Parts: sequence; C-alpha cells; structure tokens
Amino acid sequence: MHFPGSHIIGIDAFIREDIDRIFHTADRMRPYAHRERVTKVLDGAILGNMFFEPSTRTRISFGCAFNLLGGEVRETTGFESSAIAKGESLYDTARVLSGYSDVIVMRHPQSGSVAEFAAASRVPVINGGDGANEHPSQALLDLYTIRNELQSRGRDGIDGLRIAMIGDLRYGRTVHSLSRLLCLYRNIHVVLVSPQELRLPESLEVALREAGHQVTVTDKLEESIRKVDIVYSTRIQEERFASREEADLYRGKFRLNQAVYTQYCEPNTVIMHPLPRDSRAEANELDNDLNENPNLAIFRQADNGVLVRMALFALILDVADQVDRHARDVNWYTERRF
Ligand code: CP
Repeated sequence: MHFPGSHIIGIDAFIREDIDRIFHTADRMRPYAHRERVTKVLDGAILGNMFFEPSTRTRISFGCAFNLLGGEVRETTGFESSAIAKGESLYDTARVLSGYSDVIVMRHPQSGSVAEFAAASRVPVINGGDGANEHPSQALLDLYTIRNELQSRGRDGIDGLRIAMIGDLRYGRTVHSLSRLLCLYRNIHVVLVSPQELRLPESLEVALREAGHQVTVTDKLEESIRKVDIVYSTRIQEERFASREEADLYRGKFRLNQAVYTQYCEPNTVIMHPLPRDSRAEANELDNDLNENPNLAIFRQADNGVLVRMALFALILDVADQVDRHARDVNWYTERRF
C-alpha cells in the first residue's frame, strides 16, 4: 500500500510488508503513547471522528492517538446528533465533513457504509467498524498484541501461530478482519469455536484454508483451548440479532474462567478479547477471576490500540519520519502503569 492519502477500509488492501511497516511505526510511538514525550507533528490538523454506533475504545483511542500527535479532534456520536437523522445522505455528509477535516474515522452499523462514505470523501477515511463486515484497526492492534505477547515469551514472529477464536464468529467483525490478516502469514492453526448458527462466514473459512492454514471447527470450548498460543474470546454481537431473545440463545455458551484455564490451557497461553467483554452473569465469557492472571492480555491489547492508531495516522498523513523532530520531553510527572 502507498500509505500517504490512502483510505483504510479493509484488510485486503495490505500485504505483509505493510503490516511490518505499521508495527515498526507503532513501536516508535511508544514514548508518546506513554506520555514520556510530546510531539506536535500534526499541529493544526483535524480528525473528524464519526461514530454512529456505540464505542469506548475505538473512538477514544483514535481521538487520543490524534491528540498525541499534536492534532485536534471533532466528533459526532450517534445518528441523533447528526444531520443524517434529517435524511442527509452519506455522500453529502462525506463531502461536507471532508472539507472540515484532514482525516476521518467512521463507525457505522451497515456493512459497506464506510467504503461508500470514503468514495465521496476528499480526505483519507479509516474504517472504525462497518456493521458485521470489518474492523481493520482492531485486527492490526490484535496482531500487534499477539506479536508482542509471543515476543515477551521468547518467540519471534507470527508464522506457526496456534489460535482459538471463540464466540460469535458470524457477526464478529474483529474476527473477520483478524482472519483476513492471518491469511498474510504462514502455517497458522486456527481453531474456530462457535455454535453452528454463528460459524465464521464460509468465504473467510475458505480464505484461511487457501492460505495454507490448518482450520479446525468445533463447538467445544475445552478441547479447543488445549494446544493454542492465543485464546481470542468474543462477545455475542447482540446488536446484529433480530431480538435480544435470539442473542440470549447463544449467550454464555463459552465461558473461560481461571479453573477452566488452569485445567485445559498450556501455562503460557495468552488470553485476548477485543472488548467489551460481556460481564453480565448470563454471558461472562471472560470471568473476572482471570483479572490477576498475567496471561490476560486484554488491557495491554486495548493500550496497544493507541500505538497502532498513531502509526496509521502518521503513515496516512505522511509524517512518520517527522514525529521525533517535532518532539520534546513532557513537563509533568510521568511514572505510569504501562
Ligand atoms: N473493540 C472495540 O471496537 O471496542 P469499542 O466498541 O469500545 O470501540
């Protein structure tokens, strides 16, 4: 990919070297993300952060990433606070907002909507999640986390990874983007764990097999997590079901807690989840009793969102090589918890 000025809509636009470049750039963002240094490399630039679906991590971390590079953020949250509620089209919205912004991040409940918006935008657009389709920046931060977690356990590289993806694989867009991303690597063993009705879309399962990966499909949690490096748990995507009652049929089917982890997982198995985890009693896919487990990487994973999103902005706006030139140490007390 030629990054400067590019939209980031889906994972298929990337080749493996692009991912290396994003990860290398993300590594260089660490002192800024950890608030040891500040940079003003995007001084004067504006991010249009448009979220038409609920979000905590993606919206705030994209905003923080832009602020940490010295830029400013303008936001819209929910249809009700946007003129889309008055019937304005995505085309008109894109034409207008791209006049106010240097880059736009958008989340929208319909698959394909961000691509439609980007086609009318005069500035680069990043997909913050379009329906059940894709969530590319999440997949990038997930893979960045996998790389770092394996490295900290003495293993280099993604090739040869063993990963169990668990839960709502039909509607889970993070799983869709991560599956596409894994197709760029070699010799992966992917264990797909879901109810039959919530299986990974066939096209993605085929893509994984065509990439030469070993794919195992099951609806049994315990056997799926025995011999994997990564357990990637996901939430039932209630908002994609016709009713809450239909989502309830699947909620709580795959519960990982410390007892299950101790009995079935290898000692260093990393636990990931794109979050939010559903902590209600009827779901509880990742129990709170895992919170002190050092292999629970979910909050390191969320922290990494800032690094990866800073990298995307730096590459798209073509300032990756200028970040340090516009930097200084911070003035305030900086001992942090990263
Ligand atoms: N992982 C993720 O997309 O979280 P949010 O919905 O909070 O943005």
